[in-house]
Amino acid sequence: MSILAINDLKVQFPTPEGLVKAVNSVDLELEEGERLGMIGETGSGKTVLGLAVVRLLSGAEVEGNIEYRGKKLLLLDEAEMRKLRGREISVIFQSPNSLNPVLKVGDQIAESIRLVGCSNRQDAKKKAVQAMEAVGMPDAELWADRYPHQFSGGMKERAMIALGLACDPRLIIADEPTKGLDANIKAQVVELIRDVTTDKSLLFITHDLSAAAQICDRIAVMYCGEIVEVGRTEEIFANPLHPYTEGLFRSLPIMGMKAIRGASPSLIDIPSGCRFHPRCDRPCENCAKAHPPLVEAESSPGHLMRCFQHDRG
Ligand SMILES: Nc1ncnc2c1ncn2[C@@H]1O[C@H](COP(=O)(O)OP(=O)(O)OP(=O)(O)O)[C@@H](O)[C@H]1O
Ligand code: SF4
Ligand SMILES: [Mg+2]
Repeated sequence: MSILAINDLKVQFPTPEGLVKAVNSVDLELEEGERLGMIGETGSGKTVLGLAVVRLLSGAEVEGNIEYRGKKLLLLDEAEMRKLRGREISVIFQSPNSLNPVLKVGDQIAESIRLVGCSNRQDAKKKAVQAMEAVGMPDAELWADRYPHQFSGGMKERAMIALGLACDPRLIIADEPTKGLDANIKAQVVELIRDVTTDKSLLFITHDLSAAAQICDRIAVMYCGEIVEVGRTEEIFANPLHPYTEGLFRSLPIMGMKAIRGASPSLIDIPSGCRFHPRCDRPCENCAKAHPPLVEAESSPGHLMRCFQHDRG
């Protein structure tokens, strides 16, 4: 059964410069217990998509359907949504801006536990320390009594993960949890996320393709507000079908760091036809005129891509 089903999701922001079409007709399913990685260049709509699920976007026009275990989230009122956030669906943000610098870390976790109503005031502190222990913090009780500035980058990220896990949610949306961490700490955080989400469903938003490969069962690739490829992790890495996905891999240091030419287009003025055509190194005649649908590759069941050359696999 799918824990999350997103259908025809559109998110737009009216701005003085024009309408920013941040997410365009996205369809996506996450099975119970599945870990899905969401990759793509900056500004492709990954965070907006994640925040749309928990309805934490302000100033946005949101259309379509988002179902969490059969509940249509876009139709819930704010009180019903509040019951789901933290308890059922939690968000782990990248740490630096997310911890309050003037509150002790244990108090912040306890407060958030109390706010989402999964514990009373007395138990919340105890639960906070337990959550910090669960993410491998030594002397959790001691660290719970300290302020964020006393934490290293890796410890802060552990605290953020503890915050996200404290109420034992079923679905976690982790947005760039490894951003800005040095290689060694990043490896530890990736391992931690993998370990603590074995019995959870996870939407893992990242630029870090190697982290996505280590953690996720499936990968979705976003470009210019839409999904251009999705499939099993091994399949995406071994046999990327979309020219954009290939470009992302070629830009990795171990693949020679060959950047995709050009830049992501403005989401106010989206290119006609295939959105990737101005940057694609092998466009066909149709590419600038028609918009390719997301279709299953004939050679690879369950592997979908949005390209007219979809038989290439
Ligand atoms: N509140 C807002 N008002 C106007 N535009 C917005 C708003 N929030 C996001 N956007 C725009 O929506 C688009 C998608 O942004 P989003 O943050 O989802 O990208 P992203 O894929 O998460 O990028 P990154 O990898 O850099 O985090 C961007 O063009 C961004 O400028
Ligand atoms: S549809 Fe055309 S332009 Fe778009 S990715 Fe495929 S080949 Fe390139
Ligand atoms: Mg983002």
